[in-house]
Amino acid sequence: MIEHISVLKKETIDLLEIKKDGIYVDGTLGRCGHTLEILKKLDKGHLYCFDLDLEAIEKGHQILQEYKGKYTIIHDNYKNMDSYIEKVDGIILDLGVSSPQFDNAERGFSYRYNSRLDMRMNSETKLSAYEIVNNYDLNSLNRIFKEYGEEKNSYKIASKIIEARKLKPIETTFELVDIIKSCLSNKVLKEKGHPAKQVFQSLRIEVNDELNSLEEFLNKIPAILKKDGRVAIISFHSLEDRLIKNYFKKFSTVKDDKRIVIKQQDLIKPDFELLNKKIIISTTEELEINSRAKSAKLRGIKRVK
Ligand SMILES: C[S@@+](CC[C@H](N)C(=O)[O-])C[C@H]1O[C@@H](n2cnc3c(N)ncnc32)[C@H](O)[C@@H]1O
Repeated sequence: MIEHISVLKKETIDLLEIKKDGIYVDGTLGRCGHTLEILKKLDKGHLYCFDLDLEAIEKGHQILQEYKGKYTIIHDNYKNMDSYIEKVDGIILDLGVSSPQFDNAERGFSYRYNSRLDMRMNSETKLSAYEIVNNYDLNSLNRIFKEYGEEKNSYKIASKIIEARKLKPIETTFELVDIIKSCLSNKVLKEKGHPAKQVFQSLRIEVNDELNSLEEFLNKIPAILKKDGRVAIISFHSLEDRLIKNYFKKFSTVKDDKRIVIKQQDLIKPDFELLNKKIIISTTEELEINSRAKSAKLRGIKRVK
């Protein structure tokens, strides 16, 4: 069985300072690593868990059995949490895919296994990597690879895809990997990291609308978080981290009015406070046992009024 090792577990739970009777949200249930730690700390409190993946939800009910009554699992995007819960004491997001999703060849998330192009976290949605690769036009493919994958050869790869699919649909992960490789120079092919990593990341983000979900959620934080409530988010690439950093900065600063001589910052306290000015990353010990932890970054924010 493919296991998932939770990233920055202790650091995230410490940052949330769980109250025994609080209302909490785990927006990314996965294999319940963070979920269990929160549940262990709750007495009269309740935990709402979200996941897009039906397999994660089924497993979640098994793993959390002994905490029945203390949690609710909801099959929906975490960006919709305000439709189910009004005010909460804390929220955790551990973004991206879990190891069982990534390492299950059939899900099509990985360039390491040959399977049909898919990458849907939610198998009930229509848009898959197959649809994108075989139907999006040149400009759209180029934009996705460039923006979501920061892929330097985006245009070349997009053009090659358009050319290849004129002959027959691109069906599998390995067919796509071959097309990507054929666009790259020997120098690039010899660089560290898999040559298809960036394009696969960009397709996954597009299929699951990952950045828009995150941004919609960030916008809702002021409406959903109680006073003294906390949010902790673990992200795995710079596009996510940049969004989180900018929103947290906006929430925790007061805009200066240039007409006033005294700095507004000294007069009005913002509603939010950063829990960590510097990002929290994994310790050397964690990196030794979990390669997924390499790119993980943790940021937290607290509502102070
Ligand atoms: C990295 S895993 C979480 C792992 C979990 N914290 C643990 O320790 O076991 C991310 C999970 O969040 C889910 N997910 C990703 N984006 C989501 C979204 N927008 N809404 C709901 N679930 C999402 C994925 O399906 C996956 O199961």
